Amino acid sequence: MKSTKYTRRKFVCTSAAMSAAAPTLLSINLSHAKDLGKPALLGGEKAVAEQAPPWPIVQKLDEDKFLETLRSTGWCRLGNNVTTEFEKAWSSDLGVNHAIGMVNGTSALYSALYALGVGPGDEVIVPAYTFVASVNAILQQFALPVFADTDRQTFQIDVTTLEDRITEHTRCIMPVHLGGNTADMDEVLRIAAKHKIPVVEDACQAHFAEWRGRRVGGLGDAGCFSFQETKILPCGEGGACVTNSDDLYDKIHAFQNNGRDRKLGKPSEGYLHHGANLRMTEYQSALLLAQLTRLEEQCRHREENAHYLEELLKEIPGVRHAARYEGNTRNTYYLFMMHYDKSQFDDLPRSRFIEALRKEGVYVGGGYHYLNKHPFVEKMLHSRWYSNIYSKERIERYWKNNHCPENDKLSEEGLFMSQRHLLGSKSHVEQIAAAIRKVHAYAKALKA
Ligand SMILES: Cc1ncc(COP(=O)(O)O)c(C=O)c1O
Repeated sequence: MKSTKYTRRKFVCTSAAMSAAAPTLLSINLSHAKDLGKPALLGGEKAVAEQAPPWPIVQKLDEDKFLETLRSTGWCRLGNNVTTEFEKAWSSDLGVNHAIGMVNGTSALYSALYALGVGPGDEVIVPAYTFVASVNAILQQFALPVFADTDRQTFQIDVTTLEDRITEHTRCIMPVHLGGNTADMDEVLRIAAKHKIPVVEDACQAHFAEWRGRRVGGLGDAGCFSFQETKILPCGEGGACVTNSDDLYDKIHAFQNNGRDRKLGKPSEGYLHHGANLRMTEYQSALLLAQLTRLEEQCRHREENAHYLEELLKEIPGVRHAARYEGNTRNTYYLFMMHYDKSQFDDLPRSRFIEALRKEGVYVGGGYHYLNKHPFVEKMLHSRWYSNIYSKERIERYWKNNHCPENDKLSEEGLFMSQRHLLGSKSHVEQIAAAIRKVHAYAKALKA
């Protein structure tokens, strides 16, 4: 397998506008980290005095839309048109031909795979650094998840490891736009076209993110979104598939509606396909229509604060934000992703760094893990079902090649900060940077 090479890539890391403004603010807010007193974990005051805004946000419009749907008693899309209205709005906002609401992002992913004909015996290439649902959707189809390595700079799929993974069985490539950032779609689409393999974008974390000015989700054959409560467009649980293909639209539409053909009139006459009931409820759609009115403004707010924080972090050794590819024209920051270099923190373990920051009032976590080596994947691939489908030799070959060394490293050094922090004020962002500065200054004491 090829190793990751960063030299070929171009990254854009910060906003030019912020660079000019940051130094003055830095000297005011960060140079005297010791003045902030001891870390909260050692009995000092919290650095973050202002709470991060709550999430999800509920306003009058959410209540009105929800209650209107509730009182209409049209709770299922078969007897109402709220989901259809949301689908029109979402496809129009993304600039794609079709959107299909679903119960969640996982079902959107396996519906797209199903519609593309992915099934037992097939392989789907997926990044090793992602939420478990990307992989579960592949296992749901009894296909083999083939893990591509991770580009540690961006936290995205390492496209230089893609072609090595393609075999005669590859039926789909599933890039994940992680954290509101974007995968290198030029390369994904180029390689996919060269090998005539369809692409399903897992855009579950990347609402309104852009690649060369186009919103992600509509770049591949199909794109999938999640509207789970933590997502930047939330409705509790929810999802959508988007596509420009009329054929895929018909197939996905039928699949989520018990196999009913979209074009046939009466439901009882329309059971022409295999399917499931994955229909989005009308209250989910009502909430989404309300939340959608604020999405653009919230994305702008997060971007501005994220760029500011990126500048502030440049002054703190050992914490570095995730890079963006040159083709990324918008990161909507579902997550603020960072690298932690413990050698710059007197070898303070990442877990202790996280604990200290949480005490300061910054909600951070350690990111994703070694998904390619996870016991649940191993268990599934050694199950009776998989043994019925795949030969022993094929599974052995799979394990022999299942290595993602860069992903192993990122699993040890990644940090995720919740998007809620980016919806706060500028001074909230400064307090976050001050908290990190404080932990840096007291790293030795925190380790002891
Ligand atoms: C990258 C990714 N893929 C898929 C999903 C699945 O979405 P859901 O939780 O709505 O099923 C998520 C949700 O967290 C996700 O983050």
